[in-house]
Amino acid sequence: MQRVKRAPISGARSFAFPTGFVWGAAAASFQIEGAADEDGKGPSVWDMFCEKPGAIHDGHHARVVCDHYHRYPEDVALLRELGVQAYRLSLSWPRVLPEGTGRVSDRGLDFYDRLVDALLAAGVTPWITLFHWDYPLALFRRGGWSNRESATWFAEYAEVVTRRFSDRVRHFFTQNEPQVYVGFGLQRGTHAPGLELPLAEMLQAGHHSLLGHGLAVQAMRASARQPLAIGYAPVGLPKLPASDAPADVELARRATFEITEDNAWNNAWWMDPVYLGTYPEQGLAYYGKAVPRVRSGDLETIRQPLDFFGVNIYQGLVVRGADNRFGYERVRYPAGHPATAFNWPVTPEALYWGPRLFHERYGLPVVIAENGVSSRDWVSLDGGVHDPSRIDFTNRYLRAFRRAIADGTEALGYFHWSILDNFEWAAGYRERFGLVHVDYETLKRTPKDSFYWYQRVIATNGAHLDDPRPLLRDTDGRASSKPRELHSRSTGTLR
Ligand code: FCB
Repeated sequence: MQRVKRAPISGARSFAFPTGFVWGAAAASFQIEGAADEDGKGPSVWDMFCEKPGAIHDGHHARVVCDHYHRYPEDVALLRELGVQAYRLSLSWPRVLPEGTGRVSDRGLDFYDRLVDALLAAGVTPWITLFHWDYPLALFRRGGWSNRESATWFAEYAEVVTRRFSDRVRHFFTQNEPQVYVGFGLQRGTHAPGLELPLAEMLQAGHHSLLGHGLAVQAMRASARQPLAIGYAPVGLPKLPASDAPADVELARRATFEITEDNAWNNAWWMDPVYLGTYPEQGLAYYGKAVPRVRSGDLETIRQPLDFFGVNIYQGLVVRGADNRFGYERVRYPAGHPATAFNWPVTPEALYWGPRLFHERYGLPVVIAENGVSSRDWVSLDGGVHDPSRIDFTNRYLRAFRRAIADGTEALGYFHWSILDNFEWAAGYRERFGLVHVDYETLKRTPKDSFYWYQRVIATNGAHLDDPRPLLRDTDGRASSKPRELHSRSTGTLR
């Protein structure tokens, strides 16, 4: 068995990210756009869910959110200032097709035209996600993902988007996190549309969403005006070895792809069909009678060649051997283990083991489509937003990712979640994930310290991860990412 080299992730290691590595930031339509019923947009299941008493933290709603629909020029200017090469945005399906199928909204498409053109003019490459959860309400009323026809509805939408944008946009993700919109949305009921279906019904709907992915990729390739780079963005939940010992590593590798709960919260069920053309054997055995009805040809359709392995990684779980049905158990974190404001454990090694194990199994170059942290940020008396925990979190995770790359994992890029504070689904505005603070009363944007830090990480292609110097501050207290020698004002001082 191969011995796994382990360097301490927090230790300085100066080697660069690959040349051409894509540094990006991400957001999603429903979480930032607002303009919930402007210019002919149809309602989504999330518009409906926000009206449900008790569904969203403190009764928050998403009618305005960051008002990105009207303020996108300011947001594009922020992306340009940040220096990202790419921006991962999603389109609102019911803004493009108000009833989900059939009639196309020109005004909806016009908005995304303006946005895409503004990004291109700013030198930022758009990576479009077709579906980031704002499912057309009209289609939900026709059965949503539970209806097998949903797969063709999704492919129709994919084709509309491809025909309109593939002259300028080459990078696409089909769907974001089926584990969440199927699992939380259709089984657990904590996300829109809020259903609590039995396991088998949930898995059947999930099968249709996977089929939709496959049909969409076919439709996109057939209608594209240039060769596209297409991926998919499931959640990645790596299991982390309890030690360096080869047996622990082997256990974590196996556990990462096993299914041990009666829900959608796993990797292989949503990845194997897409990349390997099969549902995982262990999962089929585990789900037993609840497995979906699969028609002949479905798995071939689901398995379309993709160009990269997109994945959203926020955390991992440490496992160790145990005398139970699965042969392992989760290791509890010690009391006081670092956690984010969302109470998600801080586990930088997830960005080592996740990319590495997914790359080993699926063979495609990895794109981290989301990674980030919520913290309780506010505008300080000095006018800045000081978020050292976001800087430290991101530094640790990026070092881990860099180590995975150094150990042989092919990787193309990293998208930080998120460019802006935004509507965090059922948690409403409680969780702030942005590199830019948003005051939801005034809609004022204030770049946080992490924005300037990430700006310097990007400008140095990651070398700044090893730079222990604190952020520079102007005499007026504004953070600056510029190293001293490049500092445009002679007043730059070290904090
Ligand atoms: C992911 C979602 C994204 C955001 C982050 C924090 O699960 O894809 O929209 O909510 O979590």
